[in-house]
Amino acid sequence: MLKVQDDRIISSHWQEEDDIADTSIRPLRLVDYIGQERVKENISIFIAAARERGESLDHVLLSGPPGLGKTTLASIVAAELGNSIRKTSGPAIERPGDLAAILTNLEAGEILFIDEIHRLNRSVEEIMYPAMEDYAIDIIIGKGPAARTLRLDLPPFTLIGATTRPGLLSSPLRDRFGINCRLDFYSVENLSNIILRAAGILGLAIDEAGARAIGQRSRGTPRVANRLLKRVRDYALIKADGAIDQKVARQALEMLDIDEYGLDNMDRMILEAIIYKFGGGPVGLETLSAAVSEENDTLTDVYEPYLLKLGFIQKTPRGRIATEHAYRHLGCPVQKNTETSLFED
Ligand code: ADE
Repeated sequence: MLKVQDDRIISSHWQEEDDIADTSIRPLRLVDYIGQERVKENISIFIAAARERGESLDHVLLSGPPGLGKTTLASIVAAELGNSIRKTSGPAIERPGDLAAILTNLEAGEILFIDEIHRLNRSVEEIMYPAMEDYAIDIIIGKGPAARTLRLDLPPFTLIGATTRPGLLSSPLRDRFGINCRLDFYSVENLSNIILRAAGILGLAIDEAGARAIGQRSRGTPRVANRLLKRVRDYALIKADGAIDQKVARQALEMLDIDEYGLDNMDRMILEAIIYKFGGGPVGLETLSAAVSEENDTLTDVYEPYLLKLGFIQKTPRGRIATEHAYRHLGCPVQKNTETSLFED
């Protein structure tokens, strides 16, 4: 997995601390994986069918915002199939030879997990097509008129690709995935249950209202929920008797500047920039990311999906606009925005 440097407490990017917690609280089987009911149902049928036929599972594309459990789900699929998994990422496979080496070392039925598969470069991607379709790769030997292609057979394997940006996948690659699963933000209910489960494993005292208070501020994202749980645990230890209830959870999250929607300072900065610097929008991605000193990709992958889901921003052909909901949340006087009918009475 690509390890992005991003220390924000509510960041859905991977952080160092996540690995430590992950090893104990990450669900290992489908029955322990909370939420994403449709995805689970589909996957469990395809796994059962592959097992029944004694064949390898069709290639799977998992898409959705960061932190929703795509890597966890890939490991679960491997465990349910009783096969091992090899994990890598699009940016880590630099040359066609790197991918050829990985593919030729796979064992029959093994899962190859490629995170951020939309970042595979084109020459690497081309090796993937026959590998996915025919379990073979074509190697070119020699140069010029004497060059020959040699076909190498591969064992049957399953590629699980994960992406935060399915729209950036080329269509030849996208078309070669037989199973396409879109992970969506989790409900507060599911997040509360994820928090209760993690707290149980970590031996923390927490009640349902406490878990709910954290779940509500977790941006629909288990990775954020588990990280907030650890910060609230610290607060409870020092400021209360160690037990997490609604009051303690709210106080801890307030101290971290996380509001009741799970927005942090950067989210508010984005909304305020659209409203105050760009008259409510529309504003283009590049202009907006320059205004808040954040990378385009982080804005698109991490912040925007949740602000869009909350209905705080909208995307129009001319850029992002802040909605009436955002104005009200920030306590700004609502202005008329000509880009949308939302603001008309
Ligand atoms: N931890 C992270 N994601 C989870 C999920 N979907 N279910 C249970 N625990 C999790």
